[in-house]
Amino acid sequence: MRTSPVIPVLVIEDAATARPLAEALVKGGLRVLEVTLRTPAAIEAIREMKQVPGAIVGAGTVVSTDQFELVMKADAEFIVSPGLTDRLGSAITGSGVPFLPGVATAGDIMRGLDLGLEHFKFFPAETSGGLKALKALAAPFYQCKFCPTGGISAATAPEWLAFDPILCVGGSWVTPKGASMAEVETLAREASALGR
Ligand code: 3PG
Repeated sequence: MRTSPVIPVLVIEDAATARPLAEALVKGGLRVLEVTLRTPAAIEAIREMKQVPGAIVGAGTVVSTDQFELVMKADAEFIVSPGLTDRLGSAITGSGVPFLPGVATAGDIMRGLDLGLEHFKFFPAETSGGLKALKALAAPFYQCKFCPTGGISAATAPEWLAFDPILCVGGSWVTPKGASMAEVETLAREASALGR
């Protein structure tokens, strides 16, 4: 979460595009890449992206222990989930792989604390009340750090990143549909230059 200020949330339709995409993102300064399990190409995309020097490739949208096992076979380096269940949380924390589960309520965070977790994705960030909601939520959980994701853009990211418990933000804006690799690299460079 401290490697770069933005974690690109990637939806890869065609695994053949994965490696050039990772190269463009890493060149632009974004090394931590979240490949969402929303397409059949995702597992192959993780394998492809892992070939790119400097890339740290994780799996996102992991919602079941079956999916967790699948992405571990592809050597995913971290796991992101949109929410937190005891079953999935126990399986992942037991494995030792870095895990960023989604939270949107105090109860979600407390379930994470029970599992020994203190780093969370605040999701879906904008529609869960935005920065104002996260500020209220973070107050009692002073030990926790967050990566808000969902509805964040290049324009709004700086405001989020200025809040101390936020180590990074997630978003899909750095890889707009139809963008060329040169465009992705430029967007990545702008995103990686955002300060905390
Ligand atoms: C996610 O899965 O984290 C979000 O879909 C990313 O949200 P965004 O597309 O609004 O950036």
